[in-house]
Amino acid sequence: MRRMFLRLSTKLLNISIASLCRAKQLEKAEAAIIDGIRLGVLPDVVTYNTLITGYCQFIGFDAGYSIIHRMKEAGIAPDVVTYNSLMAGATRQHSITHCLDMFEEMREMGINPDVWSYNTLIHCFFKLGMPDEAYKIFHDVLLNISPCQATFNIMINGLCKNGCINNALMLFRYLQHHGYTPEIVTYNILINSLCKTGMWKDTMRLFEELRESGHAPNAITYTTVMKSCFRYKHFKEGLEIFLEMKSKGYAYDMFSYCTFLGALLKSGRRQDANNCIAHMIKIGYELDIASYNTLINWHCKEGKLENAYNLLNVVEERGLDCDKYTHTILIDGLCKAGNISGAQRHLNQMQMMGFDCLVAFNCFIDALCKVGRLDYALQVFHSMDIKDSFTYSSLVHNLCRARRYRLAAELLLSCIKSGMKILRSDQNAVVKGLSVTCSKTDVKRYKLKIRTAKLLHH
Ligand SMILES: *[C@@H]1O[C@H](CO)[C@@H](O)[C@H](O)[C@H]1NC(C)=O
Repeated sequence: MRRMFLRLSTKLLNISIASLCRAKQLEKAEAAIIDGIRLGVLPDVVTYNTLITGYCQFIGFDAGYSIIHRMKEAGIAPDVVTYNSLMAGATRQHSITHCLDMFEEMREMGINPDVWSYNTLIHCFFKLGMPDEAYKIFHDVLLNISPCQATFNIMINGLCKNGCINNALMLFRYLQHHGYTPEIVTYNILINSLCKTGMWKDTMRLFEELRESGHAPNAITYTTVMKSCFRYKHFKEGLEIFLEMKSKGYAYDMFSYCTFLGALLKSGRRQDANNCIAHMIKIGYELDIASYNTLINWHCKEGKLENAYNLLNVVEERGLDCDKYTHTILIDGLCKAGNISGAQRHLNQMQMMGFDCLVAFNCFIDALCKVGRLDYALQVFHSMDIKDSFTYSSLVHNLCRARRYRLAAELLLSCIKSGMKILRSDQNAVVKGLSVTCSKTDVKRYKLKIRTAKLLHH
């Protein structure tokens, strides 16, 4: 009874040591061991192995290795897990010497390495950029013990990472030939490397093969292949994969996709983006309002307001509700195109529909300033209930440019008094302007007012 109790207690001790080590609480783990011994619960090899992993991970290989001496003192013989943990610790530190030392020490102690000892050794060689050596060890495994799935994945991944993608593929084929069924992870490793090396056709071939193999591609596979398609300008294929992924229920939101379109446009690949959108609309992809907004914004930026309005019609026909972004984007588009009256009309409608119009107003005011209708801009400004620092900044900036410094100074001050931040550049422009047009005393007084206002209203 007591023996069983103690065995159970050691198990509990090990569980708590493991969780303390994972939480980086090595001192507490040590204290728990001391407490255990005091209560008659003796640590076993598992306890020490757990400690070794913790020390290797958070302090270093040497700290982990020093546990071996403590084990000997406590009369506990290290096992294969002990040495595997130490080898993993050495690998983490990129030390093939330590890793090999541990492998030898283990054998000298009469402990037989298991598949994980070999896996770790292989991984370590790959990590250090020594694929030939890794391959030799792999051969040893095949002679001595049977490898596991992880061995193959480590091999294939290591070969890929070391730029030996063709060898990785050859190994993959060889294994398949000998009755091995690759996991989805293995496919993903290869697909990812093929993408990175620009081997688009091979990527697609492997992707096809994966689908035919009865495995379902997962989100990682889809995303990798889709990105690769876009990267190598195979937009049609990229889109089809995107849609397939969507239909399988993998979340990949349209907005990210539209962001991708935005990137295409920014890099000047207008035609590519156009083809992409045309295809998207042709296959009747259900866009949401955020996606439409992105597309409408794109048309506006292109100066094709007509297209933007056509899309707006599509939105309405589909029964989707425009949101404040849709309207703001259109108003901004009209402003940028210099169609002030159109923008004004749209802004009025937007206001009547009860939308938050702040950003739209800001665009409008900025546009009015740009076309030199500063007084009208001021009039609109005064009619606004809610303003933000952009509203003020836009006017202050343009008033200074028009050398109307006194008014700019007034607005700047009231901006601060409303509790909003101002741009340092606006303040500098105002002060500089006042210095030219007003007396030194006036400038001094104004600066003092600004300081006081900041003090009181921030
Ligand atoms: C300005 O925009 C409106 C749409 O709100 C449009 O009907 C009108 O033709 C545009 N005017 C000019 C001059 O482009």
